[in-house]
Amino acid sequence: MKRIAIMGSGNGSNFEAIVKYFSGKPDFAVDITCLSDNVNAYIIERAKNLGIKYKYLPFEQNGKYFAVNNFDLIVLAGYMRILPDDVLNLGKFINIHPSLLPSFKGKDAIYRAFEAGVKVSGVTIHYVTSDIDGGKIIAQYPVLIGNLMHFDEFENEIHAVEHKLYPIVIEKLLKDEVFDFTDLVGSCSGNCSGGCAECH
Ligand code: GAR
Repeated sequence: MKRIAIMGSGNGSNFEAIVKYFSGKPDFAVDITCLSDNVNAYIIERAKNLGIKYKYLPFEQNGKYFAVNNFDLIVLAGYMRILPDDVLNLGKFINIHPSLLPSFKGKDAIYRAFEAGVKVSGVTIHYVTSDIDGGKIIAQYPVLIGNLMHFDEFENEIHAVEHKLYPIVIEKLLKDEVFDFTDLVGSCSGNCSGGCAECH
């Protein structure tokens, strides 16, 4: 059985999407642990409701924790701290970011992309380095921004793509499978604004 840790500091919607995706795959068992550096984070409520084991893990204790707890993959999902190299060396860490990196690194990326007037943004999944949102890119998926699109609509589309993309990419990495863009867009989420391969 594969073991993953999902680290988040806040809402936890990606965490929930990942848990639900793997609970629908009884032929591929994944043991999930939720870790949060914020004792009041909603991600912890979600873990309780979903029956997933969880732990409050203060930032300063990451090194000690990952030195003795081994995971096949450590998945950052809204984790709001920069992990130092001595922690990153203890596992394989990936992150999701709500823009097409290397554009719009850092906080409030969805809002900043929208305000800049870009016509294509999207979602990136990448390896984590101590360079914020700067590690090697694993997967990306576009979201088109029409001139009549309202910010809320754009933001919802970004999150819908995140929730669809992240679980698939995690599965591919855990299975050590080579994958291509077309493997990620097998069935349209209905939220792609016509940008996905199926809707073109
Ligand atoms: C997600 O949109 C994720 O891409 C973003 O935080 C949100 C967490 O939402 N991460 C970053 O901006 C990383 N630089 P969630 O807690 O509901 O999964």
